[in-house]
Amino acid sequence: MEKFIVKGKTALSGSVKISGSKNSAVALLPASVMTSETVCLENLPDITDVRTMIEILENLGVSIRRRGRDSLELTPGSISKIAPSYELVKKMRASYYFMGSLLARFGRAEVPIPGGCDLGPRPIDQHLKGFTALGADINIEHGMIKLTAQKLTGARVYLDVVSIGATINLMLAAAAAEGRTILENVAKEPEIVDLSNFLNAMGASVRGAGTDVIRIDGVKKFKGAVHTVIPDRIEAGTFMMAAAATRGRVTVEDVIPKHLEAITAKIREIGAKVEVDPEKITVDGTAPLVSSDLKTFPYPGFPTDLQPPGMVLLTAAEGLSVITENVFDGRYNHVNELKRMGARIKVEGRTALIEGGMPLTGAPVAAPDLRSGAALIIAALTADGESQISAVDHVDRGYDNFEGKLTGLGASIYRTADESYDRQSGKVD
Ligand code: EPU
Repeated sequence: MEKFIVKGKTALSGSVKISGSKNSAVALLPASVMTSETVCLENLPDITDVRTMIEILENLGVSIRRRGRDSLELTPGSISKIAPSYELVKKMRASYYFMGSLLARFGRAEVPIPGGCDLGPRPIDQHLKGFTALGADINIEHGMIKLTAQKLTGARVYLDVVSIGATINLMLAAAAAEGRTILENVAKEPEIVDLSNFLNAMGASVRGAGTDVIRIDGVKKFKGAVHTVIPDRIEAGTFMMAAAATRGRVTVEDVIPKHLEAITAKIREIGAKVEVDPEKITVDGTAPLVSSDLKTFPYPGFPTDLQPPGMVLLTAAEGLSVITENVFDGRYNHVNELKRMGARIKVEGRTALIEGGMPLTGAPVAAPDLRSGAALIIAALTADGESQISAVDHVDRGYDNFEGKLTGLGASIYRTADESYDRQSGKVD
């Protein structure tokens, strides 16, 4: 296990290039098994979740060739298994996308139930309801979800809750179902549109991604394709929050500003200046920051993944702010750690009250999950003195070279061994 040592009171300054989207990459990689031809994915982020996904694919029998730092060529013609390895799958929740993609290609899939959970309950009832509607039989035995379908048939599925995971899994299965599927009340995130573009490049017929109704006409065969992963809007948003919270000036480059509108608007409301150019956004946090209310919602609302960094920003803003977490029940794991740094935060159910403007002080803290880890690092950059952030493997799962990029913006952050921290097992994001 490793930890970060961060020196505080650093105003970030400069430009940072944003990597490819984690949440797109972890859907596109499992989708690649739907063809037996060669697929090329470009702009993949170099993060642990992508490496784990690559291991799962290799273990299934996919032949993989690296093309430069961020591109891969995958040839799934020789897949020999329909059951991804439990040891690998338990490391990341998104491995459940193999339910949809293996079912589409082979009519069978055996995938372990996604493991422990840091964000409160994360049921998969909507995924299973949709697979059943498409004609799959589902048996849950010994911790495995076993799906079989003689034939997948198009159906109309209305999601009871807007779920990114269920939308993706059902798009994958429906792409190979006979006839038309209508998915209603689906997620509208840019990652859904990215997957739709990739599936269509492989020969699928998916229409309406990015709206709340997706129409899919199933096809029998998928072909090889070349696809570039969209920029990571959550990574970009994290740096934008960090720029404002540290009272610095940072340009995030290689972004799609449209994907960042809710974040841009909120940062402006808090008092930072934001300049938007076609492929870059500059945040200037040198003016006084004022309190604000922040409510998380599915896209195009303010993303739940940026609620922890958003809380740190509100800690730096003068006055009382209110956060309402509407997407996950238990996404306040960072609060106790922030309190150790002197933050004044009170949580009541889904609401957090933040008394901002109190200076934070450096402290030893532990990253409870991916986005909380990023938030604690931002808090450490704003704090007086040095902080130690343990359990950095959470951060490595989703941020490509986070400390390198922060160092490039003038931060003092380095990684060192951490013998003292005994990580709880089975936590995934
Ligand atoms: N839900 C159900 N039933 C289901 C599925 C979801 O009740 O069958 C509920 C969840 O409990 C939650 C809400 O619906 O309250 C939304 O969950 P969703 O399925 O959209 O989340 P997810 O697909 O599990 C993805 C991201 C998360 C991100 C959430 C919300 C990936 C791999 N993960 O999770 O990303 O927080 O959407 O935007 O795309 C992260 O990157 O740090 C991360 C956790």
